[in-house]
Amino acid sequence: MNKQALIIDCDPGVDDAVALMLAFGSSELDLLAVTTVGGNAPLAKTTRNARMLRQIAGREDVPVHAGAERPLRRKPAGAGAFHGDEGLGSLTPFEPAKTVADGHGVDAILNAVNAREPGTVALAVLGPMTNLALALRREPMLARRLGPVAIMGGARGEGGNITPSAEFNVWADPEAADEVLRSGLPVTLFGLDATHQVRATEDRIATIAALGTASAETAAAMMRFSQTVEREIVGGDAPPVHDVCPVAWLARPDLFGLRPCRIAVETQSELTRGHTAVEFRVDPDTAPHRWAVSADADGVFALVAEALR
Ligand code: RIB
Ligand code: CA
Repeated sequence: MNKQALIIDCDPGVDDAVALMLAFGSSELDLLAVTTVGGNAPLAKTTRNARMLRQIAGREDVPVHAGAERPLRRKPAGAGAFHGDEGLGSLTPFEPAKTVADGHGVDAILNAVNAREPGTVALAVLGPMTNLALALRREPMLARRLGPVAIMGGARGEGGNITPSAEFNVWADPEAADEVLRSGLPVTLFGLDATHQVRATEDRIATIAALGTASAETAAAMMRFSQTVEREIVGGDAPPVHDVCPVAWLARPDLFGLRPCRIAVETQSELTRGHTAVEFRVDPDTAPHRWAVSADADGVFALVAEALR
């Protein structure tokens, strides 16, 4: 079976970590590179974290390139308690053996896409869209050369998670999201309407933990940390594992239901900064965006377990 070539742009982050472990172990995906962005934690930490996770997964064949330190315009804003001070929950930081690769994350995305046939390299964006926006500024033709683009971001029916109306990734860099969504690049957004359907229940965490591999133990630890935070801060019991969704969709599109739409982002109002206005009254044949509306959570966790086994 042909593997889907993929770049993951992320801000690890505990749910980014589970998504990375899925990608590192998936038989459906060929992870060409990981690029990092400041978001859940400062860039130095998200980049070290990506290198730590790569070492734990035994995938030092995959280069990690550091990308944008800060949003296009706004001040950097971490997500603090949701990911812990070091960005990977309770995991004790260590200095990974393999260093960060030369070259900015934006250059890594452009080089990887330009070196292959148009449409063959997919991109999953699991943090603020700053690197993708910068890449499109540098080479607008990227919008025609990229393969499927799956982005974790956006708030509609479920409301927001960083403010009442906005989801963190889009809120952190609304100008970047605005440039990406206006660029003509066809993108699929996995907002909270979909990711809130994919939750780490006790049974699912226990199933992953029982696999016994280093990747599985790390993924389970990430989800356990989120479980504690969910109980303490949100008052829930099973945390959504947001960032797994775009990566799972690239491996198994059948696991999600999508609707054609046109998405616009609020960049002017402070009250609704980062809100994603999703317009479904579009011509399905010409609609530029897709909004994920349903998820097969059992299927997603079975895919994760398969990859971490
Ligand atoms: O709102 C959820 C998103 O914000 C996820 O990508 C999580 O990692 C945080 O960055
Ligand atoms: Ca993230």
